[in-house]
Amino acid sequence: MRDPMVIANWKMYKTLSEAVEFFTHFPAEVGKVSDVETVICPPFISLADLSRLVKNTSLILGAQNMHWEKEGAYTGEISPLMLQELGVKYVIIGHSERRNFFGESDRVVRKKVDAAFKSGLFPILCIGENWDQFNNGETKKILQEQLSLALEQLSPNNKLVVAYEPVWAIGTGTPATGEVASGVAGYIRGLLRDLWGEVAENVRILYGGSVNPDNILEFTGKPDIDGALIGGSSLKEKFLAQMVRAVSK
Ligand code: 13P
Repeated sequence: MRDPMVIANWKMYKTLSEAVEFFTHFPAEVGKVSDVETVICPPFISLADLSRLVKNTSLILGAQNMHWEKEGAYTGEISPLMLQELGVKYVIIGHSERRNFFGESDRVVRKKVDAAFKSGLFPILCIGENWDQFNNGETKKILQEQLSLALEQLSPNNKLVVAYEPVWAIGTGTPATGEVASGVAGYIRGLLRDLWGEVAENVRILYGGSVNPDNILEFTGKPDIDGALIGGSSLKEKFLAQMVRAVSK
């Protein structure tokens, strides 16, 4: 079945020393929780040090982005091969901040998802509508477009994780309601069923956008939502530990 997940997306927060400091207490705080996959996605430059610190803990490392080629003349980029060598398991692909600030298109997102599968990484594919689209009732249309383009002609693969992140809920303190998120997660699973058949039942679907210790169970308590992708509230050890414990049965 689908193991629940809590994923910390640290975005462009925490220097290397701050990231290392986080790891001095955090593994012990969540040490007893074994039924929630807890993934930390720090900035690239912290991955090498943290890959040593996560050994002998239950924590898992993820990256926030990657290039689709193994190597090449791509200044400033990081490849799947480089992530694999560090024991990184997950990689966030197509976050709305990548799409909006760095012009990442659905075509590029698809290449990255494909590259993740080919190199054995688990892609966390982010999809979500903006505020105008939400208000105009276009959520389903947008999600259908983003999902079908990202997975176009890719073989079913239960390594996929899909994160529903409504752009209007990210960093605003105004999350979607549990009802809305759960309805959308069910809709996404239906789209996956149409594309991939039974494999859809094994794909984890997460909610992200202003999740915090007080509201996380509104989302992760719902049938089609298998966990949360968390930005701001994941930066504090105490909050992240609270959220991991809350999701644990
Ligand atoms: P916040 O939790 O800060 O709203 O960010 C959500 C997010 O973008 C996670 O990827």
